[in-house]
Amino acid sequence: MSQDLESIAAVLVAKGKGILAADETVPTLTKRFDALGIQSTEQSRRTYREMLFTSTGAAEFISGVIMHDETIRQKSSGGTPFAQVLSGQGIVPGIKVDTGAKPLAGSPDEKVTEGLDGLRDRLSEYRGMGARFAKWRAVIRIADTLPSAACVSANAHALGRYAALCQEQHLVPIVEPEVLMDGSHTIERCEEVTGLVLHAVFRALFEQRVTLEFMLLKPNMVIAGEECSRPVTLQEVAVATLRCLRQHVPVAVPGIVFLSGGQNDRVATAHLNAINRLPGPKPWKISFSYGRALQEPALEAWHGRDEELKMGQQAFYHRARCNGAASLGTYTDELEAASVGSGSPPHRGQSGDN
Ligand code: 13P
Repeated sequence: MSQDLESIAAVLVAKGKGILAADETVPTLTKRFDALGIQSTEQSRRTYREMLFTSTGAAEFISGVIMHDETIRQKSSGGTPFAQVLSGQGIVPGIKVDTGAKPLAGSPDEKVTEGLDGLRDRLSEYRGMGARFAKWRAVIRIADTLPSAACVSANAHALGRYAALCQEQHLVPIVEPEVLMDGSHTIERCEEVTGLVLHAVFRALFEQRVTLEFMLLKPNMVIAGEECSRPVTLQEVAVATLRCLRQHVPVAVPGIVFLSGGQNDRVATAHLNAINRLPGPKPWKISFSYGRALQEPALEAWHGRDEELKMGQQAFYHRARCNGAASLGTYTDELEAASVGSGSPPHRGQSGDN
């Protein structure tokens, strides 16, 4: 069984591939649909997810998909459960298992992620439905006096407990501590906070006896706050991110798959590419587990219209292909220019409250 976990982790970070995070909650996906005037119903969310999951060729670059509870219980228009639609293409089905970030008692400007109660049984049920990996997201906010030690330790502890339960139930845990890019902090401050959060998370994983070889880390990149007045270059982001990871992520971890966190889709691709092109030791696979940065061009192209489903799939395929290349450090302007989509503003959306 442990062999199983190791091989699933390896498949998720197979050469030139990464993960699609399509696990937005109903309120979050509704917000994204609303922004484009798309009606959010169980049916329209199902159609949208089916569009993404059946994009021709995308499986060449997508190793796994993280689903929401609603989606893993749904079937495609042809009557096949979505987990099977994915595994039939060699894509590993995954599931988000936290129940959301809630206000942290004693520090109302911060959040702690909930969902440990009953988790063992839910994991077992999801495994029975075909899931082979899981995700839990903690959010850490930067401000002058934040994050508090209480917020970092409560979230790290929960991530450790979640990851241990996943491995017990034969699911690969994706451990996601997200330091948000909301705010005006500098890139240096992001590096400092990301480092201390990763330190606390790996300590908690060690305490909870999580096998590092059987998990993946899903961190933020080290990036300036979106209201920071000092612009930073792609290269600065890449260097600071890799430095921070080298200092805090043990080599036993097979892969690091970044979240996009509200970065513009092309910028998220360019950052991943720049990180993979840096010289020096990179003892883990470095790839993507993007939500917005993979989906937004597809969502815009589709716009809720049946006749645009193919356009949506082409837009998704293109972003998957570009990010697959970035995971190898081979993304180029020429590859991007083969685009079906068009440009987009520098920062899309706020803290991903998925
Ligand atoms: P974004 O890439 O949109 O940040 O989403 C990734 C994710 O899974 C957040 O939990």
